[in-house]
Amino acid sequence: MRIILDTANLADIRYFNTHFPIEGVTTNPTILSKEGGDVLALLREIRAIIGEEKELHVQVTETEYEKIIEEAKAIVAFLGKNTFVKIPATDVGLRATKTLSDEGYGITVTAVLTATQAMLASNAGAAYVAPYVSRLENICADGVGTVAEIAEIFATSGTDTQILAASFKTAKEVLDVAVVGCHTATVGSEVMHKLLSHPTTDTSIAGFAADWNKAFGDTTLLKLLSK
Ligand code: G3P
Repeated sequence: MRIILDTANLADIRYFNTHFPIEGVTTNPTILSKEGGDVLALLREIRAIIGEEKELHVQVTETEYEKIIEEAKAIVAFLGKNTFVKIPATDVGLRATKTLSDEGYGITVTAVLTATQAMLASNAGAAYVAPYVSRLENICADGVGTVAEIAEIFATSGTDTQILAASFKTAKEVLDVAVVGCHTATVGSEVMHKLLSHPTTDTSIAGFAADWNKAFGDTTLLKLLSK
């Protein structure tokens, strides 16, 4: 399952883009508002950090059909190729998704809470649908099960629409959606760290270093091979 970073924090984007195999960055109005300041400069800097080949997902803030179309085109003109426009799963959103997808724009239908919303978004031509896993789990609904339903529906229909699962509070949720056939997950910084870190990995590495140093001192294989 592909992984995207769900933040607009520049330090985090620089770190994860350097160290983790991420495919891009997703934002939304809440994520951008956390950083504040000049939002266009922020988006331009995110694009500069990840480069033009990785995905950058930016959500519309307009709510009327004509304005959404105008805003979506302006976002892509500003941020270049591999920019996906996030549009919420509403009636107006579906209409805008159909229009923009027909014109070749990559649309991520977001705030998806049900498999029927995902099905309609796919029928409207969305490149991605973004089901909110943790927001469902938080209200005793089945976030992972909803992703599984969407995966099954998409497999049956043979649609090109991909699942971009979002809203994760635990690493286990990320694992669970991967197991049920999710294509891509967008993960915030805190959970991203939890996908990798493990205390036994740390103690194992410390053990290797201690054993090596005891036997060979402060040399390394590189130093020995470079002689
Ligand atoms: O990008 C949208 C989604 O990830 C929202 O996450 O944590 O606000 O539920 P959250």
